[in-house]
Amino acid sequence: MPLRIVQHDITTMKVDAIVNAANESLLGGGGVDGAIHRAAGPELLAECRGLGGCRTGQAKLTKGYRLPARYVIHTVGPIWRGGSRGEEELLVSAYRSSLELAAAHGCETVAFPLISAGAYGYPKDQALKIAVDTIADFLRGREMTVYLVIFDPGDYAVCGARFAAYMDAPHT
Ligand code: AR6
Repeated sequence: MPLRIVQHDITTMKVDAIVNAANESLLGGGGVDGAIHRAAGPELLAECRGLGGCRTGQAKLTKGYRLPARYVIHTVGPIWRGGSRGEEELLVSAYRSSLELAAAHGCETVAFPLISAGAYGYPKDQALKIAVDTIADFLRGREMTVYLVIFDPGDYAVCGARFAAYMDAPHT
């Protein structure tokens, strides 16, 4: 199964690249961005300072430093403003740009958080559907394995109802 939905802390994932839900400055923040910078160490921020930021819907790549992942792909999802300001298109673009960058760097395993679904306020069910559809579409005919990493156990349980095909079978 090239797309797997897992419940995990993305900073511990042993994959070629983890994706960071960053902001346009790329200079750190809270949520998963804060966790990734803490785990990677200060060299990550030093490299980010040289990148000149990142537009919403685009992505940039750095090394992973102290993370188990070789690379961090920093992308910027849209801030939710009610749904009529191009949010869906921008969120699709954030996933696609990250996947294209991963493929260009030869990554075979990539882990994503649920971009925009925290501080940026995107409704979680919609954010999840866009993530699954965009990743599944990209993976058609490719060898890459992509993990969609859900941090919160409650959110992971909610996923089960709609996306069981991508999840581990429940342990009995
Ligand atoms: N592993 C996996 N997922 C996580 C982790 C983790 N360690 N920590 C949080 N999440 P958010 P956004 C989930 O707010 O909405 C930052 O300040 C979290 O439960 O991190 O894109 C940036 O600098 C949620 O489902 O990102 C920006 O300013 C998901 O990650 C802004 O927040 C995304 O939540 C970006 O907001």
